[in-house]
This record gives sequence, C-alpha cells and structure tokens, in this order.
Amino acid sequence: MNVLLLGSGGREHALAWKMAQSKKLSQLFIAPGNAGTTSLGTNVPIDSGNFKAVGDFITEHQIQLVVIGPEAPLVNGLVDYLDRHFPQLPVVGPKASGAQLEGSKAFSKAFMHRHNIPTAAYREFNQDQVEEGLSYIDQLDLPVVLKADGLAAGKGVLICSDHEQAKKEFREMLAGKFGDASQRVVIEEFLDGIEFSVFVLTDGKEYKILPEAKDYKRIGEGDTGLNTGGMGSISPVPFVNRTLMKEVEDTIIRPTVNGIFEDGLEYRGFIFFGLIKVQDRPMVIEYNCRMGDPETQSVMPRLQNDLIDLLLATTRGTLDQIEISVDPRIVASIVMVSGGYPGDYEKGKVITGIDEYDDGVIFHAGTAVNGDKIVTSGGRVLSVTSFGNNMDEAVAKSRRKAREINFEGAYYRKDIGFDLRS
Ligand code: AMP
Ligand code: GLY
Repeated sequence: MNVLLLGSGGREHALAWKMAQSKKLSQLFIAPGNAGTTSLGTNVPIDSGNFKAVGDFITEHQIQLVVIGPEAPLVNGLVDYLDRHFPQLPVVGPKASGAQLEGSKAFSKAFMHRHNIPTAAYREFNQDQVEEGLSYIDQLDLPVVLKADGLAAGKGVLICSDHEQAKKEFREMLAGKFGDASQRVVIEEFLDGIEFSVFVLTDGKEYKILPEAKDYKRIGEGDTGLNTGGMGSISPVPFVNRTLMKEVEDTIIRPTVNGIFEDGLEYRGFIFFGLIKVQDRPMVIEYNCRMGDPETQSVMPRLQNDLIDLLLATTRGTLDQIEISVDPRIVASIVMVSGGYPGDYEKGKVITGIDEYDDGVIFHAGTAVNGDKIVTSGGRVLSVTSFGNNMDEAVAKSRRKAREINFEGAYYRKDIGFDLRS
C-alpha cells in the first residue's frame, strides 16, 4: 500500500515510524517530512495548503491511504477536497465541519454544552458585544480565561489574574490581537486541576481508545516560563486509573462520538481530548482534531497494533472489529530545542550523537539534511523517547541519551514527569 503522510514534526516522524513497521506498507511518502523521516520513506516538497498539488501527487503516485498530521489542512477543508476528487480514497482526518471542534473554540464549547459534556462554564462574544463581555468578566472568579475563537498557533489562550487585565486583553483580542482568530472570543471560568491527554480513533460511530499521555508545555523546569509547542511527554499517566478512565469514557468520549454522529459531522480520524482532573472529575479543556505533539512520540511506541490496519478500519467504518493492544511499559519523551526557543533562535546548527539508540527512538522535528550532516531547522529539534519499567527509569534513559546529543545552543527540560511521582 502506498501511503502519503502530511506534516513535518515529531508527531509525523512517530506516525511514519509506526507505519513503517506494517507489512502492508509498500511506499511511504512524507510531505514535507524532516531529516528523520528520510530513513522511513521519501520526503516530498508538497505544501499541504496547496490542495491541488496534494491531489496531483495522489494521482501520480497511486496513493492508497492519506494521513493528515497537523490541524491547519483539516480545518481548511483538505479532507472535503480529497473526498470530492477521490471519493474512494481512505483519508484519515475529519472534514472541515468536524475539524471545527479544534478550529473554533465557540463551536466546540457549544458542542459540549449541547451534548452535556463536562467543561468550564463560558460565554462567547463578538465585536458587537464588548459591553456584555466586560460585565461577564466581572462576574467570574479569578483567574479569568480568554480564548481566541480560531486557530492562533497555540497562542490564543490567555489566563488573566485580575479583572482589569482581562478586560484590557478582551478588548485587544476583539480589536484584532490575533487577527481573524480573535474576532470572536470565548470567556470561561478557570479550572484548577491536573491536565492529561486522551486520544481516540473514531470512524464516526465507533471509537478505540489509544494510550493516554501527559505533555509538558512550559519552557522552564517546574512548569515555569513561556508556553511552547511541547517540551516532553509521558505515557501512561500514573494517576489515570481504571476508575478515572471509565469516567472519561462514560462522560466525555462516548458523548463526544455520539454527538459527532448526531450532528452529522462525518468524522474519521483522531480526536485528542485535552482533559483536566478537577478533584476527581474529568473535564474537557479543549478538543483537537489530530494527534498531539509531543504526545504521539510517547503513544506510538506503546501501541502494539498495526497502525495501517487501525487507520484503514477508521476510514472504512470497521473499528468495532479491532482490539487495541498496548505495551504496559512507560515511555518518556524529552524534547530538545534550539537555544532561545520559544523566542528567536538560530537554525542550521550541526547535530551530532543521534545515530544509534538502543533503548528507544529519536524522533526528529526541526531537522534538515545538509550534505552529509543533519542540522537544526526549527525550534523543537527532536525528541528522545525511551521505554522504562517505571517512569523514573524511562526519563533517566532519555536524559542520558539527550546528554550525548549535541548542537550549539541545545536545551531540554530535565524534569519531565516531575509532578507525577508518587
Ligand atoms: P489551549 O490552547 O486551548 O490548549 O489552552 C492552552 C492551555 O491553557 C491549556 O493546556 C490549559 O493549560 C490552559 N487552559 C485553557 N483553558 C483553561 C481553563 N478553563 N482553566 C484552566 N486552564 C485552562
Ligand atoms: N501537545 C499539545 C498539542 O499537540 O496541541
């Protein structure tokens, strides 16, 4: 089977690595991929925003399965385009209507409200409702959470610790702080608890739950400093026991998949539930219409199923015939980033020490091939992913390997999993 995978991050390297283990795979193309994916398939310089170029490639290379990694092409309707031009082609990812679960906070909040899915109390406001918004802010306890409605490259959520700051930010958002993304703003109550991520594959009717994970978003140790695309991840999450998972399934996953079906969203792909445990109750912080990065790097190594089988069942509506099988060991991923990230950073630094790793996998993200060298080409450069019999062992292995990997300015957090120790 010829497979086209869209995306270039650590998530895509991990998906490619897992698909490459399948006997069903004949040729894997990654568009545009990174230096790591070159050893698993062929990188092709197609921009997933150019739907026609994607379509032409599918025809030329007799692609039989398309897997879309990032959210932007999903929200922009790539799946709708492919469905129109290649109605028989299996494509993993929701149509634009379903991708609204990530693409519009107002849509996802209304969806959760309609289907009785636990989430923070909220209201949405547009540019004609500034006064109403300001008075809603006054009614909320601190901190107040403001969310740009649309995609804002992970920057659209502000947590404001006083009412005046919240009002100022709210006005600025509606005035275009995040461009079109903040023409509408969701204001919601702050939830106090510990976050974790649950992933499912759904064919629009049935679903299968994949291993859960926890990611670490802040740049600094102890979860301090600026937000990033993700500095590390752990799977499984020690506090997610059977009781909690059952409640997640009963109150969140099943109502979400049923809601997708009832609302006619035709969703075939991953759903990423960004959850928070408030006291003992799981609640939804957000939905994403794709896998997480860097969670995928810790989830895929634990998944024992053939990923291509699983993805085909997702597209064919036969997920009910599949049983998920998971490696019980713990996986820890540590992300190595360029010096200065998430602010300005330099690219093109030569990376050494990434050749062999027996205790896990090195997943590339911002890497490129330059002659016979591998160089940095992004903020998040790679993740060191290791198996362990317990979390400390897995993290220690990743840390040990990270010490052997060098590029000028390299930085990584040494405390991944710090809040999960019992
Ligand atoms: P998002 O961009 O929606 O993933 O939000 C970014 C981060 O903001 C989340 O991962 C949470 O840490 C935090 N966050 C968002 N909404 C809330 C909320 N209602 N209460 C507490 N934290 C939140
Ligand atoms: N790790 C969070 C995300 O992928 O959005």
